Amino acid sequence: MNNTLTDNYGRVIKSLRISITKKCNLKCIYCHQEGENQAPAQEMTPETIARIVTAASVFGVDKVKFSGGEPLMREDFEEILARLPALKNISATTNGVLLSHRAASLADSGLDRVNVSLPSINKEHYGAITGSPNMLPRVIEGIDAAIDAGLTPVKLNMVLLKGINHSEIDDAINFTGRYDGSVILQLIELMNFRNISRFMVDIDSVERMLESRASHVNEREMHRRKKYFIDGVEVELVRPIDNSRFCASCNRLRVTSNGMLKPCLMRNDNLIEIKDGAMPEEIKELLRKAVLNREPFYKG
Ligand code: 5AD
Repeated sequence: MNNTLTDNYGRVIKSLRISITKKCNLKCIYCHQEGENQAPAQEMTPETIARIVTAASVFGVDKVKFSGGEPLMREDFEEILARLPALKNISATTNGVLLSHRAASLADSGLDRVNVSLPSINKEHYGAITGSPNMLPRVIEGIDAAIDAGLTPVKLNMVLLKGINHSEIDDAINFTGRYDGSVILQLIELMNFRNISRFMVDIDSVERMLESRASHVNEREMHRRKKYFIDGVEVELVRPIDNSRFCASCNRLRVTSNGMLKPCLMRNDNLIEIKDGAMPEEIKELLRKAVLNREPFYKG
């Protein structure tokens, strides 16, 4: 019997992206809410999350990324982490607002690294994007605390927005460079989830700019993301839109905050529910079923 989770397109699942809450303390204009369109509902318990991850790990899934909402809105996030089986890589995507006080305890509980959403280091622009200009210093304290706690490399997620932060790529590279290699910058193409196409940037021109400035370029297996090395700084470009190469190498399965297996960020018509209290054998069956629902959103 094949002991991996392989979909009908030959893609082997290596990672779970688990939303643990829909709650958030910012209101980012671009937020895709992990593609969840359900109303806030019962959040999964730490036990349920551990059971799902354990079942997936039997199939060789060795990476988990926690997201939200804002995952640090859950006060039991440390407990969630502590219950997980041993894995190669456990990370979280956070907006950083609550990170400075939690970084050490999260690391102690088993978190390996964090991504911090940082769409701008300009207070006014940060405020225009997130609705909370005054949170920017706290986020930067959060990044510092994450580095101190060893949650590295810290990745900064910068969703590019025309007319707001599009002209700040250089500033972001310089800011990242101050951390001497413990921080990586991720420039992310905006996905138009909430009628915000006016903010879409021409991602080809960004790619050309990065290429012209890079001393060398690599490609990651995951989503075929290109990595550029510019002035000693690692800059990754995430191009999800109209990108069949992105989908062809996607190796992740999503779990929604209310316990549904979600085969694709872009779709909500193929979710599989994990009932509260489901046992490991049952969850393994549901994982197999969900993976067979996987289909590249952008086909070649
Ligand atoms: N387009 C692209 N990326 C997005 N994210 C959230 N909304 C969008 C969007 N509309 C990503 C950002 C953020 C993470 C939680 O999800 O990288 O940091």
